[in-house]
Amino acid sequence: MSKQHPRNVSGYSDAAVAAAYDRLLVPYHLAAPARDLVAMLGLPAGSLVLDVGSGTGAAAVAAAEEVGPEGLVVALEPSLEMLRLLHEKHVCRAVAGLAPGLPFPADRFDAVLANFVLSHFRSYEPALRDMIRVLRAGGGLGLTTWGAGQTEFMRVWKEVAGEFVSNERLQRAAEEVVPWEERFRDSAHIQRALEDTGLVGVEVKRQEYRVTIGLTDYLALREATIEGRFLRQEFGAEQWHAFRQRAIAVFQGRFSEPIKYSRVINLALGRKPPARETSGVASPRRASR
Ligand SMILES: C[S@@+](CC[C@H](N)C(=O)[O-])C[C@H]1O[C@@H](n2cnc3c(N)ncnc32)[C@H](O)[C@@H]1O
Repeated sequence: MSKQHPRNVSGYSDAAVAAAYDRLLVPYHLAAPARDLVAMLGLPAGSLVLDVGSGTGAAAVAAAEEVGPEGLVVALEPSLEMLRLLHEKHVCRAVAGLAPGLPFPADRFDAVLANFVLSHFRSYEPALRDMIRVLRAGGGLGLTTWGAGQTEFMRVWKEVAGEFVSNERLQRAAEEVVPWEERFRDSAHIQRALEDTGLVGVEVKRQEYRVTIGLTDYLALREATIEGRFLRQEFGAEQWHAFRQRAIAVFQGRFSEPIKYSRVINLALGRKPPARETSGVASPRRASR
């Protein structure tokens, strides 16, 4: 299935966004599920791992710890600013690119990861098929998505945003960047997508993650999300300043420090079968390393 988007609204290629992403979203929201996803894959030391849509490396860093110095993690990401921050961590090989269109031969990797990336693909089936193509037979494809439900804090932040821009526009902007976010909140849809692209032994776990964060960091984190990036792009300096002041006033009035919430996340794993069991994925002949 495919969804088009008319312009680049993702903002991941902006240096300030990438820095805020790495400082806030990674430690508060993305690193813990990435670690659990890597644990679910059970990567032996020495494995060759591909992290697709690596961002600044939440999953690549976790995978590098598992595979050790004899292994290799390759991180693929379209945003050069994200790659620059990842490069500074010296844990893996960073490659600029997109899925589909992975610049690797078939049947090469022991595992492929995609931490919070599935919902970003314009067409998720070709992207999944390409990730399976580069996976060796028996290798695991692991991915995460946001589960259902929004926190009280997200609701209040969106209420404040709604004083400045219609909720419909905010939602449309998010859909342009993550067209499949709503669909893949549902674990049954993830299961189906992975099985339809030929993976076997698919399991999807729903796991709850608790977050404790100060108000200032929380508001800065929201500004680094898709909706926050959209508002910053849309507003002039004056309106942006007014919006931020209003958000601080509302949050300080309603909540005390620190704020605490939990988020449900889907962690999914499937394995590539030998060639005769696979429909529509490439030959499992393993290229030599
Ligand atoms: C929500 S971020 C997750 C980043 C990282 N996996 C993490 O856990 O921090 C989604 C990432 O997917 C990347 N992305 C978007 N479309 C992509 C595509 N077609 N192929 C590869 N990466 C893509 C974005 O640039 C962004 O860095």
